[in-house]
Amino acid sequence: RPDGLEDRFTRTVAADERIEPRDWMPDGYRATLLRQIAQHAHSEIIGMQPEANWITRAPSLRRKAILIAKVQDEAGHGLYLYSAAETLGASRDELLDGLHSGRHKYSSIFNYPTLTWADVGAIGWLVDGAAITNQVPLCRCSYGPYARAMTRICKEESFHQRQGYESLYALSHGTPAQRAMAQDAVDRWWWPSLMMFGPPDDESPRTAQSMAWKIKRHTNDELRQRFVDICVPQAEALGLTLPDPELRWNEERGHHDFGPIDWAEFRAVLRGDGPCNEQRIGLRRAAHAEGAWVREAAAAYAGKHGLAA
Ligand code: 3HC
Repeated sequence: RPDGLEDRFTRTVAADERIEPRDWMPDGYRATLLRQIAQHAHSEIIGMQPEANWITRAPSLRRKAILIAKVQDEAGHGLYLYSAAETLGASRDELLDGLHSGRHKYSSIFNYPTLTWADVGAIGWLVDGAAITNQVPLCRCSYGPYARAMTRICKEESFHQRQGYESLYALSHGTPAQRAMAQDAVDRWWWPSLMMFGPPDDESPRTAQSMAWKIKRHTNDELRQRFVDICVPQAEALGLTLPDPELRWNEERGHHDFGPIDWAEFRAVLRGDGPCNEQRIGLRRAAHAEGAWVREAAAAYAGKHGLAA
């Protein structure tokens, strides 16, 4: 290990400054970031599937246009994040192989089905809302390319959250059938959204080191609590109830207490036993295979014209 460079790394992180691709960094820092950024990118790409399920059945041209824009944004988020991961020394092929082979994870939340149109609103409000709560601190991550990708993504994520909330509001203030559909979607998406923040702090192998490296700026439980506190008044404004009988304001803590999360379900989904794991990965592998001719044609064209492939 080149002397003096580790001190510089430690000083840079301690000073809340950025580590850039050409800087020396501990192997573990590089490996942790590569894995987290790749899995974050995979989550964006897989996340396109549950939402795209409703593009052809959106209830109006306006809702269809918004949903198409959102799904396209998710693809773009994936590309920013794969590019950030590539600065750590992995190729795009290696990253995608990590997803297709099952070696890498993607967010558990996308292994649940989108059963009705209201699910699109619940995903915008809850899933993108949780993503924002998790991603805003990542804008202050010590690794430059990741922090900068997050800054751009958070701006678009806010539009995703807002359109979801507004769509749910229309339903929850609509006919009794629409209202029931909105409540059913919130009932199904609430607990899986809390699982997006990761296992409890005392069962999170990565949190301590990621906090020391200032990759993670708050722990899983801290961000989960922040998200619950944000959602309670929003659910009241929607006129919908969150499916947790133990949810209540705790004056002493200055936060909402909430009920136990089903970590057995979380572990089952991470193991691949969620409702849609097979479908999501199967569709992803098929899309990659069907798109091979496009990649080959682009590489051939680049080769013929002396462009970087
Ligand atoms: N789904 C899948 N895997 C999860 C998970 C979840 N909800 N929560 C934790 N894990 C994995 C971790 O990746 C880690 O696995 P690994 O060691 O193989 O990488 C393991 O479970 C242990 O969890 P830890 O808490 O110890 O791991 P981390 O310190 O990495 O914390 C995390 C987990 C909070 C998810 C963190 O990785 C993170 O902040 N990642 C970036 C954010 C992200 O990936 N968000 C995806 C949300 S979806 C999205 O953004 C799309 C948007 O458009 C909706």
